Amino acid sequence: MITKDVLMKIIKYAAKAPSGHNTQPWKFKIGNDRISILPDFTRALPVVDSDNHALYISLGCALENLIIAANQFDCETKTTIHNSGNETFIQIDLYQSEEIKKTDLYNFIEKRQVTRNKYSTEKIQKEFLRELFDDILDKCLQVKLFLSKTEIENLTPYIIEGSNLQFNNKAFVKELVSWFRFSEKEVLIEGDGLWSASMGLPNMGRCIGNFVMKNFVSAKSEAKRWKKIISKSAGFALFMVKTNDHEHWIKLGQAFQRFGLLATKMNINHAHVNMPCEELPVREKMIQNYQLNEYTPLLLIRFGYSNPLPYSYRRNINEILSSK
Ligand SMILES: Cc1cc2nc3c(=O)[nH]c(=O)nc-3n(C[C@H](O)[C@H](O)[C@H](O)COP(=O)(O)O)c2cc1C
Repeated sequence: MITKDVLMKIIKYAAKAPSGHNTQPWKFKIGNDRISILPDFTRALPVVDSDNHALYISLGCALENLIIAANQFDCETKTTIHNSGNETFIQIDLYQSEEIKKTDLYNFIEKRQVTRNKYSTEKIQKEFLRELFDDILDKCLQVKLFLSKTEIENLTPYIIEGSNLQFNNKAFVKELVSWFRFSEKEVLIEGDGLWSASMGLPNMGRCIGNFVMKNFVSAKSEAKRWKKIISKSAGFALFMVKTNDHEHWIKLGQAFQRFGLLATKMNINHAHVNMPCEELPVREKMIQNYQLNEYTPLLLIRFGYSNPLPYSYRRNINEILSSK
């Protein structure tokens, strides 16, 4: 039987996964040689993620970390996805084994981060791109790359349109700000959310933070900021699913997490530019104009070379264990 100590270590690595607004929308349930990952809808994002696709992608990221960590602790895994009506959860059965093929991606679970600063314009070598993306694709998942100056320029209006829709939407901004952690004191208490330092911003406290958001951040200022960031990216990757359901969102999360870990291993930084996927009219336009056909784009990721920022926080393990 696998000890509780080992199961807790594995969960700790799983919870290092990325999640939309760093909500950490998961609960982990420990059983006999089994861990289940359950969605925590109290941490959903009803405005920006009304169908919960980002929530299930985040669970997929945690699943990928969990499998890699379990292997490192000499456990083979068998994953089963259970769906009951509106809710899906992931069950991982663990088997002790001496003959596991371990991956060095384990070493990058704690080093990975979403890096939101400006990147250098240095391009990524072709063989690195192949290594980054070849491994993660299958028939139900696809990634479309935007690498040349023209491709990136043509992508820009979709990003700006998505950003404009979001920053002109009061409910979006209210939800976003509710997950901002404007000081280290705040993030230490909450253990979640978007800490200003990990977004490349100074610690300013909630009062000043709210004032800045109200008076200095607008659709116009965001569009200006994005144009600069976009032109400084080595490339963009659009992650897409063929079937737009919970199971495939989880699979996409696994693929995205592998990408994040591989990129970290190669010293390549990445960050989200998801607005054109999140705003449905813009998503529809992309599907039409890029002839994505049966594929639904869910994540748009920029990548390139940059310097790391302070790491985001995670909640204490006791807060993410399920008592159900
Ligand atoms: C499904 C998903 C959606 C995300 N969407 C965004 C986004 O729209 N903008 C953004 O800046 N970061 C986005 N992120 C990144 C998270 O904010 C980030 O993972 C979280 O703050 C934790 O930070 P870390 O990944 O550096 O540990 C997303 C992450 C996931 C998994």
